[in-house]
This record gives sequence, structure tokens and C-alpha cells, in this order.
Amino acid sequence: MNNGRDGLRNRWLNWIGLGRLVSKHTDSNTPKETDQSTTVPIWEIKPTHVGKIFKHLIALGPEDRYLRFGYAATNEQIEEYVQSLDFERDSLFGIYNRRLDLIAMAHLSYSIDPNCASCAEFGVSVNQSSRGRRYGTRLFDRAITHARNEGVMLLFVHALSENTAMIKIAKRAGARIERDGPDSQAHLRLPPADFDSRMEEILDQQVAWTDYQLKTQAKQFSAWLGLHHPKKQSGMTPES
Ligand SMILES: CC(C)(COP(=O)(O)OP(=O)(O)OC[C@H]1O[C@@H](n2cnc3c(N)ncnc32)[C@H](O)[C@@H]1OP(=O)(O)O)[C@@H](O)C(=O)NCCC(=O)NCCS
Repeated sequence: MNNGRDGLRNRWLNWIGLGRLVSKHTDSNTPKETDQSTTVPIWEIKPTHVGKIFKHLIALGPEDRYLRFGYAATNEQIEEYVQSLDFERDSLFGIYNRRLDLIAMAHLSYSIDPNCASCAEFGVSVNQSSRGRRYGTRLFDRAITHARNEGVMLLFVHALSENTAMIKIAKRAGARIERDGPDSQAHLRLPPADFDSRMEEILDQQVAWTDYQLKTQAKQFSAWLGLHHPKKQSGMTPES
């Protein structure tokens, strides 16, 4: 419990720039969180950002689409997926760059199977150029916290067995991996929500909200200065 609270305190201090003044603590019994030294603002994606989701997903190459969806999704299939997203039922999380492009996203999809009412599935993608910065890990951590607070007890990740990065992320969080030839399924049992998980989510939301507002203002300011000329899009627009 104290370690969890120390983690929260450290993240807050890191975010406001005082992180080096505190030591790092991790709780090996908690199925989440590895290195807490960097806070990455993760925003809960709103339905108004379906265009950004589409733009992020169609930028994935054929191999990444295969890893993400389990098949080599075409642009049309990606568009269908985006159009079918249910923002009321599911939760989507995103990491935005300073131009407010979506550079990484996760989809936490709650089970509709009455036999597995407290289950959810996690899917994630990170832009090729933003890989290796622990964004995938952070999104998994963020989804775990949210899922716990929503009463999820079992989290699944479907991954190809060759997907070393995803399997590493899930394993490190404490997931059990079941391999079935080219496919693997990770199962992660989640502890019930507690005070720390709720506080952690409030803090994450606050950090993300502040970060997003600052980036929005910076973007508006550079547009006002004439430094930013957004490209015109056809079809689904990033702001749609
Ligand atoms: C899987 C994915 C989300 C990982 O994103 P990421 O932000 O690069 O991941 P992280 O930086 O958190 O890395 C997690 C771990 O995997 C390792 N890793 C990353 N890419 C790797 C690769 N290609 N091969 C082996 N290990 C890799 C990292 O070194 C890290 O391990 P470490 O913490 O011990 O150093 C990203 O590669 C991706 O979008 N892939 C395509 C879609 C996909 O596969 N989705 C998952 C199935 S839903």
C-alpha cells in the first residue's frame, strides 16, 4: 500500500520536475508499473477524435496491422473498426505529440459475454517512430488501473507468439501467457480497485488534461504566429 502511494507521489513529483529528489520504489506484488521515473500523459480518447485514431492506425505498416488486429487489415477494414468503436462501453487511451497527433493508443474493450462479465481485452499500437519509449508499457499500466477501477478482474491480450514486445509488456505486468502455435493469449488477474488505484487514475487524468490544454494552447499560438499549416485531409479528418 505504501509503495503504491510512494509511486503516486513520485510520479507527481516527476511530472512537476522534482523527480530526481525522490528515490524510486516498485511493488513487485502489484501486477503493473515498472519504471515510474517518467510520467507520460495519457488522455482518455473522446469520440471527437475518431479521425485521429484513423490517421494513427492507417499509418501502421502491413506487419504492424497484422500484429495489432491479427490480420492484415486494409484501410477499409480499419475505417470499419474505427466507425464501430463504442465510446460509451469501451475505453480508449491515447498519447499525443505536441502537434496533438495521436502517436500511440490503446483500446480496452469490455466483454459482452455474460459468462465473463468482469473481463476485458486490451489492444495497443504505437507509431513506428515512437517505439521503444515505453509508451506501450505505459498504456498497458494505464489500462490496468482503469480496468481495476471499472471492476474488471481478468484482462486478456491476444498477440502473435512472435510479438516479443507485447508479450514482454504483458509478462512483466504479471500475465500468464498461453501459447497456441503462432498465437498467444495473455491473461492477467487484476486485484480489486482500492484507494491508491482510484487516486492514481485521478492523478493520471489531471496530468493528461493539463498536458492536453498546454499543447492545445501552444498549437493555437503557433497557428496564430503562422508557424503551423495543417494539411488538408480527404475523407475522415483528424479532427472529425
Ligand atoms: C507492441 C508495441 C505496442 C510496443 O510498443 P513500445 O512502446 O515500443 O513498447 P515498449 O517501449 O513499452 O517496450 C516494451 C518492451 O519490449 C521491448 N521491445 C520493443 N520492441 C521490441 C522488438 N521489436 N523486439 C523485441 N523486444 C522489443 C522493449 O525493449 C521493452 O523491453 P524493456 O522494457 O525490457 O526494454 C508496438 O511495437 C506496436 O505498436 N506494435 C504493433 C501493434 C502490436 O503489436 N500490438 C500488440 C497486439 S494488440
